[in-house]
Amino acid sequence: MRDVIRAATAVAALSLLVGLGRLAPAALEAQDQAAATPAPHANDDCMMCHSDPETTRADGTSLGVDAAKFEASVHGQLGMACVDCHADVATAELPHAEKLARVDCSTCHADASAAFAKSIHFEAREHGKGEAATCVSCHGMHDILPSSDPASRTYALNLPNTCGSCHGNDTLITRTNMQGGNVASQYADSIHGRALKAGLIVAPSCSACHGAHDILASTDPEGKVFRFNQVATCGTCHEGIKHQFDKGRHGQLLAAQDDRAPVCADCHSAHGIQAADTPQWRVDVIRECGTCHVEKLTTYRDTFHGQVTNLGFARVATCADCHGAHAVLPQSDPASPTHPTNRVAMCQQCHAGANENFAQYDPHADLHDRSRNAPLYYTARFMGVLLIGVFTFFGVHTTLWFQRAWREAAASRTPRQTLPAESVLPPPPHAGDEEPKGGER
Ligand code: HEC
Ligand code: HEC
Ligand code: HEC
Ligand code: HEC
Ligand code: HEC
Ligand code: HEC
Ligand code: HEC
Ligand code: HEC
Ligand code: HEC
Ligand code: HEC
Ligand code: HEC
Repeated sequence: MRDVIRAATAVAALSLLVGLGRLAPAALEAQDQAAATPAPHANDDCMMCHSDPETTRADGTSLGVDAAKFEASVHGQLGMACVDCHADVATAELPHAEKLARVDCSTCHADASAAFAKSIHFEAREHGKGEAATCVSCHGMHDILPSSDPASRTYALNLPNTCGSCHGNDTLITRTNMQGGNVASQYADSIHGRALKAGLIVAPSCSACHGAHDILASTDPEGKVFRFNQVATCGTCHEGIKHQFDKGRHGQLLAAQDDRAPVCADCHSAHGIQAADTPQWRVDVIRECGTCHVEKLTTYRDTFHGQVTNLGFARVATCADCHGAHAVLPQSDPASPTHPTNRVAMCQQCHAGANENFAQYDPHADLHDRSRNAPLYYTARFMGVLLIGVFTFFGVHTTLWFQRAWREAAASRTPRQTLPAESVLPPPPHAGDEEPKGGER
């Protein structure tokens, strides 16, 4: 019912618009002059030539218009005339000029056009990058359908292919040096892309994160995927996570516009997002925490947990298992799992028998930090000294041993050097007879 009303309103608006367009000059100019203005061409006038798919330009590009598709399009359904869009030939003499003006959609779609005029695509075109998207690249020309129509290029389930006609086109990507590379294929392999492909309409298509007409570069502070806006953008669907994240230390930093803070895509990536229980990703994200918490990663790697995850097994504790993933807090915060009162429970998630004593184990023990763990520091020092001592002793021992062995070997070789040249030949069967000669010395 709403659609019918909408369509009816649209038709009324359209007739008014078209009517105004036709009446305005008539009202302004004298009646007799208006009478001399020829009537605008009907669609049939145009289709006389353009219904033939064989009609081509001099350069071979097609000029055929599929009448059935146009009839079925949103504009065709509204009974629009060719000349409503191709306004410059409305009353022109036929055959018309070779070059015609570009269709200006903004005469009827002011809002969409105004939003588009601020986008990266529009800007790129202004700067001579003619490969960037226009209305036609995303909507088509004569077969435009409402975005709610499952056959439309801009229907959520079809949009990745529409954007992907450029952002998934390797030749174009290389030629125009497009940011992000083959974004469409990364997206297709992500949990979002797979969910959307399976028909889960609430999964985000490109426009859910980027917008449609007002798409901006990821470095633009006004854009939906700019660092400081990302949490809000993902949070439109992942509201619970956003809530958690905002409460944590990272979220607080971000709210203070501190650009040291991580945002969703730093840990999850933007287009290759995997399910959070994917083992490979769980191991990779440790490295991501470590890009900022360098020293904590080093100390973690020294522990059993860190060594096992380094081998690619996610079964043992990762950073997020102990700290939480989104509401990370300093240990001084009573809500933190690392707060002394919560630590036993935290270890018990996996070590069922863990007690106060077990939880004393330092997950970030630092051999080089005396103030943090004196016994460990001195043990490490002692082990270091012991190791150096042992190596030094055996080093000296080996050197002396070698010298002696060398001297003895040299001594046993000397007599052979005085032998005549023929003795270089393979030893005669009784070579052993020469042995006492050496012994004589
Ligand atoms: C007598 C045949 C004929 C009729 C009638 C005709 N056209 Fe064309 N049209 C052509 C030819 C031929 C070209 C190719 C011009 C060229 O590039 O050589 C063309 C090109 C065009 C183009 C592309 C222009 C460009 O800049 O590339 C548009 C748009 C167009 N026609 C629209 C219309 C509309 C709208 C009508 C009805 C008002 C119409 N034509 C009627 C023959 C016709
Ligand atoms: C909703 C607006 C709209 C309507 C209505 C419309 N066109 Fe077009 N037409 C376009 C756009 C957009 C282009 C692409 C070129 C441009 O941007 O000017 C185009 C291009 C063309 C071309 C050039 C073909 C090409 O591939 O470049 C022809 C020929 C043409 N139109 C004929 C027609 C005819 C005949 C009708 C009526 C049956 C018609 N158009 C109705 C928007 C429209
Ligand atoms: C980069 C792709 C893209 C470009 C370029 C684009 N659109 Fe859209 N458009 C969309 C998508 C996607 C939707 C569906 C609504 C949404 O997802 O927000 C849409 C929706 C629309 C709608 C219906 C909803 C609304 O906002 O009123 C109109 C009308 C429209 N576009 C017109 C235009 C016009 C006119 C232009 C050129 C100035 C244009 N679009 C350029 C992708 C695009
Ligand atoms: C002469 C006026 C006029 C022109 C020019 C025009 N349109 Fe439309 N268009 C309409 C009307 C009226 C509707 C129906 C309004 C509605 O459903 O919201 C419509 C509907 C649409 C829709 C579907 C909106 C929806 O609900 O999803 C899209 C997309 C669209 N137009 C894109 C374009 C594009 C792209 C161009 C330029 C190539 C264009 N239009 C040129 C009048 C026009
Ligand atoms: C879940 C949200 C989301 C979806 C869905 C999404 N993007 Fe993105 N996109 C982002 C974020 C976030 C960034 C910023 C990247 C960053 O900061 O690392 C981005 C960046 C980009 C960039 C710039 C590349 C760069 O590295 O800066 C392009 C191009 C892009 N996206 C295109 C697309 C296309 C095309 C689709 C659909 C196939 C899509 N995106 C789907 C969130 C999304
Ligand atoms: C006709 C080809 C084309 C289509 C279709 C297209 N784009 Fe683009 N897009 C480009 C080009 C070319 C650029 C590069 C602009 C530049 O480098 O200045 C770009 C830039 C972008 C950027 C900014 C990248 C950056 O620098 O951070 C984003 C985001 C983006 N597109 C998203 C989309 C989305 C989402 C869609 C679909 C709704 C889409 N594009 C459809 C060609 C296209
Ligand atoms: C500092 C890294 C990091 C940041 C930033 C981050 N996440 Fe996560 N996220 C994780 C980790 C690690 C997990 C896995 C948690 C687990 O296994 O319990 C996760 C899990 C998830 C899940 C799966 C559900 C769940 O709770 O297990 C979703 C959805 C999610 N994150 C969305 C987001 C969104 C949205 C943002 C931005 C507001 C975000 N993440 C920011 C690291 C991060
Ligand atoms: C339009 C809504 C929407 C937006 C926006 C959105 N997501 Fe999602 N996301 C979903 C849905 C729906 C799923 C579940 C897909 C499934 O389970 O098949 C999901 C799944 C996820 C998962 C996997 C959760 C799990 O259980 O393992 C992560 C991680 C995630 N999203 C992160 C993000 C990030 C990061 C952003 C922003 C860059 C984002 N999402 C933006 C709807 C959204
Ligand atoms: C992009 C950099 C970045 C990434 C990635 C990152 N963090 Fe942080 N994190 C910070 C900053 C900056 C602080 C605040 C440090 C401060 O206050 O001096 C912080 C604070 C913390 C705190 C609170 C401790 C404190 O000193 O306030 C914990 C716990 C924490 N992060 C754990 C993690 C975990 C676990 C991960 C991975 C899942 C992670 N972080 C990923 C930058 C990052
Ligand atoms: C087995 C559990 C466990 C694992 C795994 C773990 N941590 Fe910790 N982490 C703790 C505990 C407990 C503390 C607080 C006590 C301390 O500082 O010794 C802590 C302290 C921290 C702090 C300082 C926070 C503060 O409150 O001052 C940061 C930052 C941190 N860890 C980051 C990480 C990162 C990054 C990883 C992964 C590379 C990681 N942690 C792995 C348990 C763990
Ligand atoms: C996500 C699960 C998980 C959490 C949380 C966790 N661990 Fe572990 N940890 C393991 C697994 C699995 C092993 C491998 C040994 C095993 O099977 O018992 C292990 C091994 C260990 C080891 C070496 C082997 C042993 O059993 O003596 C120590 C020490 C240890 N964990 C301490 C802790 C402490 C202390 C905490 C709490 C601060 C903690 N772990 C939290 C999973 C976890």
